[in-house]
Amino acid sequence: MSAFTLVNHLDQGYLRDALAADARTAFTAEHKWLPPKWFYDAEGSALFTKITQLPEYYPTRRELAILRARGAEVAAATGAETLVELGSGTSDKTEWLLSELSTAGTLRTYVPVDVDAGTLTSAAHRLIATYQDLSVYAVCADFEVHLKSLVGVPPGEATGRRLVAFLGGTIGNLTPAARAAFLAGLRATMAPGDGFLLGADLVKDPRRLVAAYDDAAGVTAEFNRNVLRVLNRELRAGFEPEAFEHVAIWDEENEWIEMRLRAMRDMTVGVEDLDLAVSFAEGEEMRTEISAKFRRAGLEDELRRASFTPAAWYTDPAGDFALSLSFA
Ligand code: SAH
Ligand code: AVI
Repeated sequence: MSAFTLVNHLDQGYLRDALAADARTAFTAEHKWLPPKWFYDAEGSALFTKITQLPEYYPTRRELAILRARGAEVAAATGAETLVELGSGTSDKTEWLLSELSTAGTLRTYVPVDVDAGTLTSAAHRLIATYQDLSVYAVCADFEVHLKSLVGVPPGEATGRRLVAFLGGTIGNLTPAARAAFLAGLRATMAPGDGFLLGADLVKDPRRLVAAYDDAAGVTAEFNRNVLRVLNRELRAGFEPEAFEHVAIWDEENEWIEMRLRAMRDMTVGVEDLDLAVSFAEGEEMRTEISAKFRRAGLEDELRRASFTPAAWYTDPAGDFALSLSFA
């Protein structure tokens, strides 16, 4: 019999306060920037799903191909009883891991973790309908803040061997310093022998990278502008999303894609809840996301520095995307 529990660390008050703090920092900094986690309200998550289906956006298809080809190996190597997934979104690709772990006979519990409660809940409901013996313990939380609260989840049960999955290349949305803190923080919550399956987009021809983040249909542009709609709704800001142009550039030195919103004219935007008037000069850019691209040596080095032991590296035939399996 499957079971479903939802634990919410992010009540509306927490989310609003965290957004307010980030927005105040963002708008008073010399160079304006916002963390990408604020893209993902219901509309942002739906736009991300549309992005994953775009011809230019290859990462989702490539990672799925790796999971299909190597899911059974990952299941055998980890023997996980509990699968914890950070930034799980719709959990679509995860189904390959869930079914391989179920076939291997080890899996009992799936713990999806996401900031977007709506997407998390509908994914969990879909999964319990498919996997009759699975217990789903969904946690609405910020993986940069609440990792410690995932220890001992689900409560009251021996969790057995755990596999933590962090798919999609979302690790690349963290700055290098935030990445190091995240990896060390995650490792500190894991027991020896627990697995960590990490999806990472790889460095490639910048033309393909830029196209993936500046698609012809303009879906990524809408995703980018969605953060302004979130600010308007949550903090009573007065952004006109259409007054900002979507920008995606390849930063050769840092090996990351940077998404920005460029003001198309001089303007001052009120943010009522922050009691702030934010000025933009025509052409001024606000950074809204980095999406770092990796090389094997660099990523495995970062994992080792966080005391993980890299064990396997799987790529798709085109060498576009990688799944790294390491152990605590
Ligand atoms: N893993 C899925 C979704 C990737 S999109 C895939 O591979 O397709 C990134 C997901 O991470 C979104 O669902 C978003 O809501 C979530 N997310 C982003 N920042 C987060 C954070 N700090 N804490 C928890 N979830 C986060
Ligand atoms: C979720 N994350 C890995 C996506 C990425 O590719 O960095 C978010 C995204 N941004 C624009 N398109 C997709």
